[in-house]
Amino acid sequence: MKGIILAGGNGTRLKPLTDVTNKHLLPVYNKPMVFYSIDTLKSMGIHDIILVTGKEFSGDFADLLGDGKDFGIEFTYKVQEEALGIAHALGTVKNTIGKDPILVILGDNIFMLDKTETEELKKRTSEFSKNPDGAMIFLKEVKDPERFGVPEFDKNNNVIKIEEKPNKPKSRYAVTGLYMYDNTIFDKISELKPSKRGEFELTDVNNLYLKEGRLKSHIIKGEWTDAGTFESLYRAGTLAKDLAEKNK
Ligand code: G1P
Repeated sequence: MKGIILAGGNGTRLKPLTDVTNKHLLPVYNKPMVFYSIDTLKSMGIHDIILVTGKEFSGDFADLLGDGKDFGIEFTYKVQEEALGIAHALGTVKNTIGKDPILVILGDNIFMLDKTETEELKKRTSEFSKNPDGAMIFLKEVKDPERFGVPEFDKNNNVIKIEEKPNKPKSRYAVTGLYMYDNTIFDKISELKPSKRGEFELTDVNNLYLKEGRLKSHIIKGEWTDAGTFESLYRAGTLAKDLAEKNK
């Protein structure tokens, strides 16, 4: 199973920090942001990673990460010519993947999980890679669900719908930027239409899996944040610092 890090986009919400670099190269405490998603994929047992990013700063990623040797990873790079959204970015790896399932992480997502939960996710990844069927999303309760993809639950706590950045969220949960997909994802991506913000959304892909009754969800117990706004970037730095001090 290959891992995919989506590290494109214009980082508009972090301007002027992103005027001369890519969001995922910005510091989160003592490391470039993208290191955290590499660590998360690695902790889930993935050692073969494709990083998708825009043309403008793709050379900087290669300078920073090289072929991955120093990380114990094999890196491949893919360029997304236009920032048309995360589902579009994922579509660019179709021919590289073949028939395999994929584990996808958004490069601005920071997971701080303890050993037990990390082992649990590793086990789930290994099970999914042996028997890939449908998709798996990971949810986390948050204070500001309107900033995210938000699941709606039925009375048995099954996800019945996901809304992207709703004004009136139907739950307090966010869909985090970690996803497992079987190979049917690429057909689904090719069916998508751009959203209101003019992007191809993974939320629409996830709703297509839901319609097929093939979307599973799992609630994350540890800490999670994105780092795409000033507030969340600051929080990510604080979380990373706390963890680094705990592990001293
Ligand atoms: C993206 C997804 C959203 C998800 C979030 C997690 O939002 O569209 O569904 O909840 O990542 O970080 P974006 O950061 O592109 O606004």
